This record gives sequence, C-alpha cells and structure tokens, in this order.
Amino acid sequence: MNASQVKQAHYSIQVSNDEQFNGHLVLVNQQHPVRKKAKQLIAVDTFPSIKQIDKGMKLEKTCLEQLHLLLQACGGIDDIVAVSGYRTKKEQTQIYNDSLIERGAAYTSKYVAWPGHSEHQTGLAIDVGRLKATLDFIAPAFPDTGIYKSFRQHAADYGFILRYKREKQSITRIAYEPWHFRYVGYPHAKLMEQHDLCLEEYIDFVQHYRYDGEQLVVQEKHATTSIYYVPAEEGSHTEIPILQSDVYRVSGNNRDGFIVTVMTKHQEKLPGVRGNM
Ligand code: DAL
Ligand code: ZN
Repeated sequence: MNASQVKQAHYSIQVSNDEQFNGHLVLVNQQHPVRKKAKQLIAVDTFPSIKQIDKGMKLEKTCLEQLHLLLQACGGIDDIVAVSGYRTKKEQTQIYNDSLIERGAAYTSKYVAWPGHSEHQTGLAIDVGRLKATLDFIAPAFPDTGIYKSFRQHAADYGFILRYKREKQSITRIAYEPWHFRYVGYPHAKLMEQHDLCLEEYIDFVQHYRYDGEQLVVQEKHATTSIYYVPAEEGSHTEIPILQSDVYRVSGNNRDGFIVTVMTKHQEKLPGVRGNM
C-alpha cells in the first residue's frame, strides 16, 4: 500500500444522505446505532453445505457468499458451525434481557451489544463455533488451532475481520470475542489487519484520504484499488466523485459520510474472490 497524490478523471453520482447508514463499512457500536433496516438478507440455507445451529439463519448476500468461500478455503466447512447471523432488534433485546437475568450485568455488558447497537442487526456479522462442542450461544467455543486458526488466518482475504480483539476493548467496548467475524469487504479487511486497526480506528484512518488529495492506494498484481472518504453534504443528497475505474463500491460509514472503493483491473480475470470488494 502507498498513498499517492494523483489527478484522475472522474464523474459524479448523486446519493441520498440516507445511504450513509448503509453498506459493508458501517460502524455500529455504542455511539453509533443501527439506523437502517438490513438489506439483501438471504437464507444461509442457500448454501446447504454450511452448517448452522438454527435453520432459519440469514446473512447479507455478499457476506454469506464470502463466508461460504472462506469456509471452503480453510477446509472448515464440515467442522465449523454458524451460530448466530442476522438478528432483529427484537431478538437482540431478548438475548440482552435473557443474558442480564441468566449471566448478570457485568457479563452482559462485555459480550452482548445494546439492543439497536448490534452488528448482528446489519446481517454483516457472523458468530462461528466448533461443531462438536456443546455450544454456548453467546460465546461459542472457537479454538485457535487447526482449521479454526486457518479460518481466522484466511478471513481478511475474504473480507472478514475479527471484530473484537483483546487489545482493542477500550475502543470497541466489547470484550475479546474469537467467534465474532464482521464482513467489511476486500481490501478493507486486509488493510485493517496490516495496520492493526479495529473498525473504529479504520473509519478515522480513511477520513484522511480524499479523491482530489491523498488517496489510499493498494497496488496488487491483478488490480489497483483506491479508497477515499467523501463527507455527507448538508441537505438531502451528496455528490460523490467516482474516479474512472473498472469497478466501484460506495458504502456509508454510519457516522458522517461515505467511503468509496474503486478498482482498476490489470488482468481480465481476477484470481479468487479478491475482486469482490
Ligand atoms: N456479541 C456482540 C457484541 C453483539 O451482541 O452484537
Ligand atoms: Zn456476534
């Protein structure tokens, strides 16, 4: 990765400011509640080879497709079980209240997000567990060995981050959760891993990069990807500059603006899933 000062051709799109609350990079935590209904939810059953503890589980479409590829890549499809995916606010409230009664306030504040403030309500978070273990629904066992370790090591290549790291607890306000993975997309997950940034820190980091100033550039053999932040404008819409590229994606940050990811391919066929931003 390097940062570069470039003048490139661009065009603009008009986006409703409501969209700053949607997308793969939304920051959801105690300060930033879920503001919009989850989009593009599909049944985990769409991929019958994915094991789930509860048949009706749903995830956001790209998140589920990438999870399937990640499970195949790490060889864990037969041994890793999806424990909890999309939750409605009502379900999160139920989990929170049950946990308060059964496990107490101290435990609950460490491991269960406030209703309205859970990433699970976006469909972009997935809790995974070891299939044969007796599974705890809130804190499923997910060892740091074998295929479980391999899942963690491959996660960023497929756009997932381990969302709640031990050393980031003072920022995320959630304790270490080795089972909770969050889809943010590629190459964002890779950048967060390389720079050791949690999502809160990454959203701040990206704000320094602008389309007409310094951009965050990821150079790879198969493609060049540029990332930049566009603050939401006053009023109902924001004009978002899109640099000329082969593929682009715009995500809200659920705070104050948009993160644009543009990719230019060097090879016609991108290897694996890395083309999937
Ligand atoms: N366990 C995570 C923090 C949640 O409840 O969303
Ligand atoms: Zn979780």
